[in-house]
Amino acid sequence: MSITTKMATSFSTAVNRGGGGLKLQPLKQMLPQLQSKWRELKWIACLLVFTFLLSLFFYHIASRIQPRPLPLPQQSSISDFVPPFITAKPKSNNTNNFEAEDRGNLASILREAAMDEKTVIVTMMNKAYAERNSTFDVFLEGFRVGNGTERLLRHVVVVCLDDKAYSRCVEVFPHRCFMLRATGVDFSGERLFMVGDYLEMMWRRTEFLGSLLKLGYNFLLTDVDTVWLRDPFPRFIADADFQIACDSFNGNFSDNRNYANGGFLYVIANSRTIELYNYWYESRLRFPGKNEQDVINKIKYDPYIKKIGLKMRFLDTTHVGNFCQQNWDITKVCVLHGNCCIGQANKVKDLRQVLEDWTSFLSSEDPTIGFRQPMNCRRSLRRRWSHKG
Ligand SMILES: *[C@@H]1O[C@H](CO)[C@@H](O)[C@H](O)[C@H]1NC(C)=O
Ligand SMILES: *[C@@H]1O[C@H](CO)[C@@H](O)[C@H](O)[C@H]1NC(C)=O
Ligand SMILES: *[C@@H]1O[C@H](CO)[C@@H](O)[C@H](O)[C@H]1NC(C)=O
Ligand SMILES: *[C@@H]1O[C@H](CO)[C@@H](O)[C@H](O)[C@H]1NC(C)=O
Repeated sequence: MSITTKMATSFSTAVNRGGGGLKLQPLKQMLPQLQSKWRELKWIACLLVFTFLLSLFFYHIASRIQPRPLPLPQQSSISDFVPPFITAKPKSNNTNNFEAEDRGNLASILREAAMDEKTVIVTMMNKAYAERNSTFDVFLEGFRVGNGTERLLRHVVVVCLDDKAYSRCVEVFPHRCFMLRATGVDFSGERLFMVGDYLEMMWRRTEFLGSLLKLGYNFLLTDVDTVWLRDPFPRFIADADFQIACDSFNGNFSDNRNYANGGFLYVIANSRTIELYNYWYESRLRFPGKNEQDVINKIKYDPYIKKIGLKMRFLDTTHVGNFCQQNWDITKVCVLHGNCCIGQANKVKDLRQVLEDWTSFLSSEDPTIGFRQPMNCRRSLRRRWSHKG
């Protein structure tokens, strides 16, 4: 988003600059010049018209991107995310080998990361999350200050969506970084802003997770804007196939009317979940322009889900909480998700505050020390609403 805005601005400044230059000369002096330099001006005029049309185009694209969902699929999360912006890679003369190498790489990462029962914790990030002192750092820190969570770090696999995210990941979290290349999407050219490519990337994530199931891996997918304060595994329902967090929990973990949040889900690899992922991924064609969270919230009612016998459950926000909630039980919360927040900086500040409050709680063991409200995130939403009127 910030990229597209920047582009639009730079194009409009180009237009202004061109116009300003012409206005500088008094009109009377300009008229003879106009005639003598008609040829030249014609080109400038053409250029101006072209630039104007181009800027209109970018404005159009930017306005289309505005209400779009976020880097990681949760409606309520930050919106100023940098769309998966894949920098032009130096052309490899051996693309096929590259991909084969990647696959080998993935197999060994999974083997090393998996728990005994072939379960991995998966997160995904782009370069905006990966920046120094930003979301990814807070994510890792959460595991270190959480109670009994540090040992879970070795089971975390980080799927990187661009080169910058990958190189930062390798730097701070070696041996667990995997670069998900966007095959079938042209990221090598100038299509940096395309909404379609962003959605494509989110669907690629669903496809990727489906392929983990086919490889026999259970996974816990967690957005990178979460902090893990306690081990969530003991909270999962033993015989469920697919368990997913929700923004607000209505008290009934089997009630489909809970609105699923795709930012945290735990899936057991079996024929039912493989079928679900196939069906989910194919359903994107029925709901064009929707991300995978929108779509799971539609298809969860489909009779087909019942037919395949999938057992889907919703996780209690007491254990897997989020910033949309008004209060939290610090004595019970396992994972806290920084959604309901606009702006990476706001999110990072408030997630850091959670870690501070948690540390004070641990050192005093005083349960009256709860979490403070995530005010930066709250204000970011209010600003958004007041802009909208
Ligand atoms: C092929 O790629 C390798 C490394 O990717 C590079 O060193 C080599 O120069 C390339 N060859 C050509 C002909 O581009
Ligand atoms: C990281 O960010 C926090 C505030 O979000 C700031 O106080 C701190 O100095 C930063 N640390 C580094 C190393 O930049
Ligand atoms: C931390 O974990 C230990 C071991 O499971 C448990 O006894 C203790 O109560 C936990 N502390 C908190 C604050 O949750
Ligand atoms: C929970 O939801 C399920 C599915 O909608 C329903 O069958 C069940 O009766 C509900 N349980 C309670 C206690 O309301």
